[in-house]
Amino acid sequence: MNENNRQYVLVKRPESDVTDDIFEYREGAIPDPGPGEVLLKTLYLSFDPTQRGWLNDVPSYIPPVQLGEPMRAGGIGQVVQSNNPDFAAGDIVQGTISWQDYVAAKPDGPMPFTKLSRDYPLTHNMSIFGLTSLTAYFGLLELGQPKEGDTVVVSGAAGATGSIAGQIAKIKGARVVGIAGGPDKCNWLTSKANFDAAIDYKNENVEEKLKELCPNGVNVYFDNVGGAILDAVLLNLAQGARIVVCGGISSGYHSWETDHPPRNYMNLILHSARMEGFLVLTYAARFPEAIGDIAKWVQEGKLHFEEDIVEGLENAPATLRGLFEGKNLGKLILKVADPE
Ligand SMILES: NC(=O)c1ccc[n+]([C@@H]2O[C@H](COP(=O)([O-])OP(=O)(O)OC[C@H]3O[C@@H](n4cnc5c(N)ncnc54)[C@H](OP(=O)(O)O)[C@@H]3O)[C@@H](O)[C@H]2O)c1
Repeated sequence: MNENNRQYVLVKRPESDVTDDIFEYREGAIPDPGPGEVLLKTLYLSFDPTQRGWLNDVPSYIPPVQLGEPMRAGGIGQVVQSNNPDFAAGDIVQGTISWQDYVAAKPDGPMPFTKLSRDYPLTHNMSIFGLTSLTAYFGLLELGQPKEGDTVVVSGAAGATGSIAGQIAKIKGARVVGIAGGPDKCNWLTSKANFDAAIDYKNENVEEKLKELCPNGVNVYFDNVGGAILDAVLLNLAQGARIVVCGGISSGYHSWETDHPPRNYMNLILHSARMEGFLVLTYAARFPEAIGDIAKWVQEGKLHFEEDIVEGLENAPATLRGLFEGKNLGKLILKVADPE
């Protein structure tokens, strides 16, 4: 192959917010796959808040990205060369890859490679059939357990996970209020994504708006952000409320600690409420069941989803930063190359 391998390598650990200069652009030779490895050409990269956690040099659910390594990401690639009997040149696979044109890797994880069909757009495997939708599905249905007539509040509501969580709550007969940043996202929630109401946390008083929009209290809160918004919801709970701790992006994921721990959590006592966290990968054995339901709801026109696709590997650092600046609507994806 007469091509360079472009890479973005982690060269320093961020102290707080992600900045473009923690990554360095490098060019090198296309790697040779070792025994049991496949060589993939990168097609699409997924951008996920959890990537910020991988930049911290602390133990977590997977090891941190090491200095000098290309930045790790979920992604889709096409097999160029294979030393593994389960994969052949031309196969399209999804799994854990990194910010480079070509990746030589064993197919076993942290997210093992799975072969994709070409029956629908490849990006749907990252958006509507991807981990964010599965997170919404299991977090909401298993922990939130919304019932007909419940009031469900979702933060990070115009993002990949939140937008699906809110719509699934709606399918289950709840009244759904979304919290998102800015009038455009709020307008999208009520005009396109079936939410009953929206709160613009950047321009409105969340606590006051919750009182107005949820006069009988919040039965289920699907929390993607933590911090001050969680505190506002804790002041507006219904009896027996369930709080699903999906994420805490308002902390910036600088560490597992937050500089805004919940102040109003004693309200859990007053309202006999429950607050519970989860990791989507715990439900891996049940992903096919969830994908079946999600596909049916999409076909019935009950689930609307957006893909926010940025083009060009050179935009990878700015795209990750953009996720924490709220630039995306729906699932944030970067396109690197077309499949053969
Ligand atoms: N538990 C699990 O297994 C699991 C799995 C996947 C994802 N998650 C979590 O789910 C959440 C959503 O992830 P996603 O991949 O779907 O990302 P996303 O919601 O598509 O994108 C992130 C969004 O977060 C919002 N945001 C950024 N900074 C914020 C702040 N300071 N305060 C409030 N909102 C802020 C932005 O929207 P605005 O413009 O509205 O601010 C941004 O668009 C994250 O917390 C993530 O860690 C958890």
